[in-house]
Amino acid sequence: MTTTIEHPALAPTTLGRLALRNRYAVAPMSRVSASPDGTPTGEMADYYAEFARGGFGLVFSEGTYPDSAASQGYLNQPGLARDEHVAGWRVVTAGVRAAGGRMIAQLMHAGAIAQGHPNTVAPSAVQPRGEMMRAYGGSGPWPVPRELTTAEIDDVVEGFAAAAVRARQAGFDGVEVHAANGYLLDQFLTDYTNHRTDSYGGPVANRIRLTARVVTAVAEAVPELVTGVRLSQTKVNDFTYRWPGGREDAEVIFAAVAEAGAQYLHIASEGRNWLETAKLADGGTITALARQVTGLPVIANGGMHDLAQAHEVLTGGHADLLSLGHGALANPDLPARVAAARPLAEFDRAMVSPTVTVANARRWRESRQA
Ligand SMILES: Cc1cc2nc3c(=O)[nH]c(=O)nc-3n(C[C@H](O)[C@H](O)[C@H](O)COP(=O)(O)O)c2cc1C
Repeated sequence: MTTTIEHPALAPTTLGRLALRNRYAVAPMSRVSASPDGTPTGEMADYYAEFARGGFGLVFSEGTYPDSAASQGYLNQPGLARDEHVAGWRVVTAGVRAAGGRMIAQLMHAGAIAQGHPNTVAPSAVQPRGEMMRAYGGSGPWPVPRELTTAEIDDVVEGFAAAAVRARQAGFDGVEVHAANGYLLDQFLTDYTNHRTDSYGGPVANRIRLTARVVTAVAEAVPELVTGVRLSQTKVNDFTYRWPGGREDAEVIFAAVAEAGAQYLHIASEGRNWLETAKLADGGTITALARQVTGLPVIANGGMHDLAQAHEVLTGGHADLLSLGHGALANPDLPARVAAARPLAEFDRAMVSPTVTVANARRWRESRQA
């Protein structure tokens, strides 16, 4: 392509008060590469800094567990659950900032699909679909989770807020509440995993209530940081789910998180392409709808390394920023390549198989260079 230097993804933008040098973000990607106690390692710092050196304006952390009760999803997942986790993250955020990038911590409570916990919790005692994920060290069916009490739900909210304060201490520029992809907050939003009869169950306005509470608690805990939320229809353990009320559900969900204090919305396309997951029955897209309903910046995801699709998303009013998972793994310097009209490398499954660890990806790259 000869026109890539003009690509709209390279234009500067803002996310809340955060000035970004372009619209390219590294999507949150779990790497299960932290110390067993959840402290980020120097190897992780190198991994994250490489994206900023490669030109990404924004880097999301992988899903990070906020509390020591039951939120941890995987062994070797990093945390922001204890003060000891802060020092490791400080090295990571400093490396990203030194290379001109900004970094947002994604806080994730795994709920029923936690693989690091023998006793999982959820909105209701419903066994999750599918099987545990081998790439994160799991196998076999998920255990049936225990239903959270209302007092425990309050603890979950407080856990997110306390972790957000640690994120600020660790030098992050923002906090993203992970309400997507089938984890705890999405389990509340999803009709078939939430059978509650209290104010958190029933109609979609109730099922989004916990996410809204968490967003408010985080925004109030760290008002000087950007607070955002990640939502999705598909899940790591269900690629076919769609919000049952379509556009009407989407409008309720988007309005609720905006009113709760979210400063941006990040719409994930777990396991699928943006076009496939974002399309509404009437031909519109949920990312465009999110912009219309909230007036907030929206980050689109799912195959955004495709330059033509990214162009259409940004110029067609579908989103303001793009987050890249597989494309960023294959091209940590993707923005620099686009600016120089250099070709992009193809993603290779060996980068995340048999494990998604940073060391596995490094070995893959070294073998390619040898
Ligand atoms: C190895 C790997 C780990 C992931 N971990 C997370 C995560 O921790 N949090 C999250 O919200 N999404 C996670 N995702 C989903 C990505 O953020 C992204 O939504 C997905 O890969 C689709 O985007 P893509 O087509 O650009 O890859 C992960 C994806 C991959 C490939």
